[in-house]
Order: sequence, then structure tokens, then C-alpha cells
Amino acid sequence: MTSRKFPQRATSHSDPTTYTPHYGYKPAGNGTRALYGESVPLARIADEVGTPAYVYSRASIEAAYRNLDRAFGSLPHTLCYAMKANSNLSVLRVLARLGSSFDIVSGGELDRLGRIGIPGNRIVFSGVGKTREEIREALRYPGKVSRHSGIFMFNIESGAELEVLLSESSRHVAAGGTRPGVAIRVNPDVLAGGHPHIATGAHEHKFGVAWSAARDLYLIHKTSPWIAWRGITAHLGSQISSVKPYRQALARLASYVRDLAHNGIRLEYIDIGGGLGIRYTTEAALPTAAYAKTLADIVRPLSCRLIIEPGRALVGPAGVLLTRVLYVKHSGKKTFVVVDAAMNDLIRPVLYGATHPITPALRAAKAAAKGKPARVDVVGPVCESGDFLAKDWPLPPVKSQDLLVVWAAGAYSFAQSSNYNARRRPAEVLIEGRRFHVARRREKYDDLVRGEEV
Ligand code: LLP
Repeated sequence: MTSRKFPQRATSHSDPTTYTPHYGYKPAGNGTRALYGESVPLARIADEVGTPAYVYSRASIEAAYRNLDRAFGSLPHTLCYAMKANSNLSVLRVLARLGSSFDIVSGGELDRLGRIGIPGNRIVFSGVGKTREEIREALRYPGKVSRHSGIFMFNIESGAELEVLLSESSRHVAAGGTRPGVAIRVNPDVLAGGHPHIATGAHEHKFGVAWSAARDLYLIHKTSPWIAWRGITAHLGSQISSVKPYRQALARLASYVRDLAHNGIRLEYIDIGGGLGIRYTTEAALPTAAYAKTLADIVRPLSCRLIIEPGRALVGPAGVLLTRVLYVKHSGKKTFVVVDAAMNDLIRPVLYGATHPITPALRAAKAAAKGKPARVDVVGPVCESGDFLAKDWPLPPVKSQDLLVVWAAGAYSFAQSSNYNARRRPAEVLIEGRRFHVARRREKYDDLVRGEEV
């Protein structure tokens, strides 16, 4: 289960401020230093909003988007933010204003985009199990062309799913609707990704269609009146730290594009999915420039437009989780720091063996700092041994009510939170320069029983 990129045990204590833009410690009197997100002290947010709370930096999301966008230079490209990473409406709006398109995987995500007025021509629909109802909703989604011209592209994952799309779109087109653009997700049979649960591109995974089967589907439906072949797609996995799997997979897709062109099917879009890894602790993030160059070199000669679907890389480093110490507990040789955030708020440590650095929001003056940081387990109040945020993590001495910061928690963090143990999910806050606003209020007990009947 554990892998090199997701060490259970942090071997060295790296300072996240050195690689997390828009967060940093500033002098706070008497030699202490307080952590800021942009121009806001995080302690102020904790005081006003309470804990646990997720905090996102708008500037950080913007910088990540612009950096990635710029890296592709003149190559025709589209960034489709994989909104499963963080689908908070305020976060989506930040990206929408930058001109981002969106990669969705459910009707619920489509609904969210509708609520902030994203037109269909900026939406790609991925996922292995789209229901008939979801397909219908996406076909009728307000587009740019007309009120019901639908989304930009369906990334189809099986022949059976294509049949459902064809049956829905035949009715849709017969009623005057627009013919949907479609891509097939090909399984590139390339192994990549930081953890077995988030690798997707090998033949043993449930994702995509083997090339021979995909080729047959493209050719059989070459002149379909119900769909228009628009592209080809693959997604390799997540938290990828090397360009090699991208090069291999994209080269394969490129050869498929050429093969199809020889057979009279001219695809305009090549979508290589997401997966760009970030730095959590000591691992190296995939350098954006090298990643972009690798992709651009392969795509340029094809005269296709490149689509990428980054999730984690755009929002991961932009977020932190604020939590307060409840108790410090010594048990034999172990020290447990019990905090008010738990596995229901952040499940990545126990689910993937992921390490999110944890630091105090206030750093003591050097002279006052007593001794070396001790190795502690930072744990939550949930009744399971799997309820930890970090194990054997080096922390300076802390006491009840101290504020801690869990880093790199902008992606797949709130998004994977739950109400386990009847816990209310945390508030989400967006910092914008000197200001911040509650982008999602903390749940109330009433929220937890909504829909239940006795
Ligand atoms: N496109 C498709 C089709 C995907 O399935 C995914 C992620 C992405 C794009 C975005 O990948 P990213 O750029 O964020 O790596 N919950 C796990 C990650 C699951 C990723 C699932 N698919 C985690 O917390 O690490």
C-alpha cells in the first residue's frame, strides 16, 4: 500500500512555506511569526470562522492556472479543470474568470457549473459510468450556440456507454438538437501515478477502451447522424511526477490519430487527461515547463488542439486545513496530538497513505522554542485508529487551543469529506488579498438530518 511518493512516515521535515506560493510566516511581535495566506493572518480566520476550516488562496489558484496556461505557449490548447478536485462554487468561479474550461464526471458537477453560468462549450464529460439521465442532461445543457446545444465533448469509456449516448442523441437530434461531439477514452496501457488507488492507465484498470476496440467504434460510427467524432482521450493517473508516461501515452494517441486520419476520420482534439503531480513533502513536483514541452512536441505536428484536465495541480497547493489542538495525550512512548479535524474532513492520509505537512500557525521566537520538535501522531476525534492526519510527524511542543495548519489540502480534501460520526463538514474560506469570505459555511446539525424521516 505504501509507496515512495506517499510515505506513511515522514522522513524529513520540509518547510511547506518554501514551496507553497502565497502562504508565509510574518513577524507577529516578540520574535514570534504568524502564518498568513496572502495578506490575511490565518489565526484571524480561525477566530472568526472557527475550526476546522479549509482555506483557499485565490492568488495561488490564479498563479497555478496562468503558469500552466503560459507553459504551452503558442500551441493551441485548452485547460479543462477537473472539478472533482475541488468543486466549491467560489473556486470554480475563480477559474471560470480566468477562462478555464471544465472536466466533469457527474450530473451533480454539471449542475454546479450551471449555477455559475458556465456555457456548454466549456465542458468535457468524463467518467466510466455516466447514466442515461446524466447523458440526457448534458445533451440539453445550455450551450453557446443555442439554449440546448449541450456540452462540448463526451469522453466515452465503453461500447455500451456509446450505445446509450447514441440512443439519447438520436432523439435529441431528431427534435432539432445539436449533434454532440464525442471522444473515446483509450486505455494507453501505461503505468503511472502516485498510488495504486489513483493509477488508471494500465490495462487492468476499469478505465478506457483498448485501442483495437476503440478503433472499431470510430470506424463503425464514422458517418453517424447522431454523433460527431471530435477527439481522442486518455488519463493516466494522478500525482504523476515524471514526463515519461505522458510521452509514451501521448505518442500512442498520436499514432491513433494518424491511423484514423488515414481512414477518413479527422480528429480535432487530443485530450491527455490530468495527473500533474504536486509537492506535498519531499517529493518533486512535475516541472510545468518540461511537462508542457513534452506534450507540445508530440501534439504540434498533428495540428490538433491539446486538452489537459488538471485538478490537483491547480488547487492542491492553494489550500490549507486549519485545526485546533484539543488535547495532548501521552501514551507510553507515543505522543498524540488530538485535534478538532478528523478523517471525515481529510481522508487522504488513511486512504492513500498521503502525507500532508502540519505546522503551527504561530511560530515561537527562536529563544523561546524549547528543544527539538518531537515526533507525534496528529489524530482526530473519530472512533477509529485510521483517524489520523499525520503519523510520526515532527511538531514543536503544542498545547490545547493552539492552531495547526495542514498543508497542500486544496485538492481532494474537502471534496472527499463526509459526515462520518455525524460530524458537520468544515467551513470553506476563500482569501482574496486582504479580504476573505466564507465560501461555504460550516454545516449545521439541521443540514445533517435534512431528507431523513422518522
Ligand atoms: N481527468 C480524469 C478523467 C480524471 O479521472 C482525473 C482524476 C483528472 C482528470 C484529474 O487528475 P489530477 O490532475 O487531479 O491528478 N482522490 C485522489 C485522486 C483521484 C484522481 C481521480 N481522477 C487523491 O486524493 O489523490
